[in-house]
Amino acid sequence: MTITLAIETSCDETSCAILKGGREVLSNIISSQIEIHKKFGGVVPEVASRKHIETINLIIQQALDEAGLGFKDIDLIGVTQGPGLVGALLVGLSSAKAIAYALDKPLVGVNHIEGHVCANYIEHKNLEPPFTCLIVSGGHTYLVQANSYTNYELIGRTRDDAAGEAFDKIARALGLSYPGGPIVDKLAKTGDKFAIDFPRVYLEPNSYDFSFSGLKTAVLNYLNQMSQKGKEIIVEDVAASFQQAVIEVLVEKTIRLAKERNSDKIALAGGVAANEGLRNLIQKRGKEENIEIFYPSTVLCTDNAAMIGSAAYFNYIDGKVSDYHLNVEPNLELR
Ligand code: KG4
Ligand code: ZN
Repeated sequence: MTITLAIETSCDETSCAILKGGREVLSNIISSQIEIHKKFGGVVPEVASRKHIETINLIIQQALDEAGLGFKDIDLIGVTQGPGLVGALLVGLSSAKAIAYALDKPLVGVNHIEGHVCANYIEHKNLEPPFTCLIVSGGHTYLVQANSYTNYELIGRTRDDAAGEAFDKIARALGLSYPGGPIVDKLAKTGDKFAIDFPRVYLEPNSYDFSFSGLKTAVLNYLNQMSQKGKEIIVEDVAASFQQAVIEVLVEKTIRLAKERNSDKIALAGGVAANEGLRNLIQKRGKEENIEIFYPSTVLCTDNAAMIGSAAYFNYIDGKVSDYHLNVEPNLELR
């Protein structure tokens, strides 16, 4: 069975994983920089790159140690090529190239978004394409039909903010810390999700695209009006009502696409797939429509190298191998 060493450095996590085949994780080391970026209220690209450089070699060694393997055991090297921060991506890509060259083993550049989808293959050993997939992260919101392990049909996307970005911006407006998604999720549990009637933005009747900037403005206006009137803001209610407005649209469009494609499976992917409100609502709707719902455990939802290793393996099996001219692509599209 192919042993893959995978590296992920597209944003603020330095991660290295070792996989056996496409689904079995031998180690998955994730070093988060969140504490460093927190004081700036978001990720500072230059700081992220420097931190990746400081950490990457230690993380790679730790991943090998935890897997009980050495470099000589590695058959394949996978690395995130994009999308992401250019300087951050370069650290992982340079390391991966160096290892591939030194070991004389194949190198596969991976699309980070495809990696998020593949986290589902690690979590659910029997999951096979085709299925409908909602990818919701800090940087991206995609609705896709996964036709095979390496072929994705892009059906819908956000026209402005990504879903995770909307969570982070609302959290910031509420005075919560970064990243806001998990905090809003937690507060929403004790709030009333129907307390404030924020807009559900469906766009044109047949559209599978998303838009979150109008909702963001509506929440900011609500907060301003409340403070101007000297009224108390119930943070839990704002969090719950905002979250409900986001997830209703995400879920309804995903269910509609699955039904249109006669898909009996839906997978969630990306950091926002960790959201409990989203998971619960799509499970409920899936049951009603006889569609089976899949999502990765929280650690595999947010950025990690194991998902990159899985995607690298499936691309390798498909003959999609990179050469040493492989370069980072900060705006890489899903194709
Ligand atoms: O996939 P990810 O780790 O990084 C990107 O590729 O962007 O996603 C990070 C995003 C952040 O915006 C974070 O706030 C959001 O995922 N997130 C959540 C939750 N956990 C992480 N959003 C809502 N609810 C959560 N539980
Ligand atoms: Zn990500």
